[in-house]
Amino acid sequence: MESIQAIKQRFGIIGNDPKLNRAVEKAIQVAPTDISVLVTGESGVGKESIPKIIHSLSHRKHGKYIAVNCGAIPEGTIDSELFGHEKGAFTGATQTRNGYFEVADGGTIFLDEVGELPLTTQVRLLRVLENGEFIKVGSSKVQKTDVRIVAATNVNMFDAIKKGKFREDLYYRLSTVEILLPPLRDRKEDIHLLFRKFASDFATKYKMPTIRLSEDAVILLEKYHWSGNIRQLRNIAEQISVLEQNRTITGATLHGYLPNIGSNLPAVISADKKESDFSNEREILYKVLFDMKSDLNDLKKLTMELMQSGNTQQVQKDNERLIQKIYQEKEEETHFEEPQRPTTSEVLEIPPQIAIQRQEDDKYHFAEEIEEEETLSLHDKELELIKKSLERHRGKRKAAAEELGISERTLYRKIKQYDL
Ligand SMILES: Nc1ncnc2c1ncn2[C@@H]1O[C@H](COP(=O)(O)OP(=O)(O)O)[C@@H](O)[C@H]1O
Ligand SMILES: [Mg+2]
Repeated sequence: MESIQAIKQRFGIIGNDPKLNRAVEKAIQVAPTDISVLVTGESGVGKESIPKIIHSLSHRKHGKYIAVNCGAIPEGTIDSELFGHEKGAFTGATQTRNGYFEVADGGTIFLDEVGELPLTTQVRLLRVLENGEFIKVGSSKVQKTDVRIVAATNVNMFDAIKKGKFREDLYYRLSTVEILLPPLRDRKEDIHLLFRKFASDFATKYKMPTIRLSEDAVILLEKYHWSGNIRQLRNIAEQISVLEQNRTITGATLHGYLPNIGSNLPAVISADKKESDFSNEREILYKVLFDMKSDLNDLKKLTMELMQSGNTQQVQKDNERLIQKIYQEKEEETHFEEPQRPTTSEVLEIPPQIAIQRQEDDKYHFAEEIEEEETLSLHDKELELIKKSLERHRGKRKAAAEELGISERTLYRKIKQYDL
């Protein structure tokens, strides 16, 4: 059996973290079997190399390896993509088409972002997993296939199950063996190693001297949260490699490239920003907007409660609780330095008594006003961001979706919705 080190080298996996090694070791152990594997971990941790290792160390290595991004295929065509369709199955089906499960017979299919699969497709998938059977869309003929499935997800599957978005039986089928890839922030020792590797790669690519980090920059690098994990680290190594004339990078310089550091409204409002901050800022701005939307919804709910309730004391308590909740969520998500927590009165400018008086006015009118303002501004901003991102990536949806921090399918839906 090839050693873990050799496999890591073969697949370009950098790092010596024990959790990473364990993940690679598990992939090596499970490869010769036909067991289904679920790879879990945050976005950007390197999940995609695991199914490749499994396939190339299995008896299927001469068979096909097909990677499918379940989040990127529109819901209407995913069954046909995976299982094929009969001629005439739907408008536009002018010919019979073989799906990936037929094409990959004897090989491996990697289902990336498996949590995004529509429920109807989940039923079909369960059947293939259970007895190798599937039916083309628009057909009644049962076919057989022999495919090894490796799936990956960056969403919490138990949440998805609880919300009714993912079938529990399918989850257990898929995750006979689970391989967890740790987030970069839990692999502190590997962070600088990876940075040096990327710095050296980009120096070669752009024919410039390799950047190196000063001591304080290394400390900052290791302390940073890296919510985008290795993908984000790589992106920042690239930006710095291209933009910085002085090839020794100080902590202060690095600081300028790290979004979400040190303030609650990140780089968006900070002075003297660099060109390179813009893509990160857009991403953050987008997330901030969505957070604002959910905060607004909470506040809206609160307002409705206020208007419907006569019990001022209870309402006051509920306000506190809700506002605490909003700020707690913010902190958990962002790991900023302690933000200034506003007092209840700062956040909620309407004292409960007035809000209750409003009830006599016209509560529906009041509620509608909030609704309309909210959708207007968010709608405009969202549209603008999507347009900009699409322009920037010359219409490449995958890149745009990645930048916007949404799935390709969501982007696809929005393009349709806004008629872009
Ligand atoms: N251990 C690693 N060493 C070097 N590069 C890595 C490592 N893990 C991931 N990468 C790189 O990071 C990026 C993101 O990895 P990917 O597998 O696409 O992440 P995920 O699928 O988990 O979102 C890719 O460019 C990949 O080559
Ligand atoms: Mg991925």
